[in-house]
Amino acid sequence: MASVAMVVNGKSITREVEGHTLLVDFLRDDLRLTGTHVGCDTSQCGACVVHVNGQSVKACAMFAIEADGADVATIEGQANKDGSLNVIQQAFQDHHGLQCGFCTPGMVMTAAALLKENPKPTEAEVRSYLEGNICRCTGYHNIVKAIMAASGQDVTAIAAE
Ligand code: FES
Ligand code: FES
Repeated sequence: MASVAMVVNGKSITREVEGHTLLVDFLRDDLRLTGTHVGCDTSQCGACVVHVNGQSVKACAMFAIEADGADVATIEGQANKDGSLNVIQQAFQDHHGLQCGFCTPGMVMTAAALLKENPKPTEAEVRSYLEGNICRCTGYHNIVKAIMAASGQDVTAIAAE
């Protein structure tokens, strides 16, 4: 076991973990932050995306001890301070960017990373950035639309699906 300390959604935490504990399991099982999902065992689906020191990472592809000293953000910390949905979450709701919702935490975290890097992405740029996130329900169209709307762009020209 090793001791890890990190800041998760603004709170400092310290825990003992096994060296082989994945960050996603640490978040879900030790911290009970179950909004970060596990949708595959091949690091392909992106349901587990969180931010580590401001970068989006697949939490299933990183050990918890690798996040020692890091600033970690999960979907649980994304709402506005008053508890309302943030602009990306609201856009997903407004543009029907989710169905079952399983992929949504990872999509929202990936979208947040994209918009930080590229505040006004084109449709092609959004689609390309989402390459590591799989959605089994929506066909992606409304997710792309939601992310573009969240960036403040007019999405009326993007045909409804
Ligand atoms: S659970 Fe991490 S990519 Fe699928
Ligand atoms: S909404 Fe069901 S997997 Fe994306």
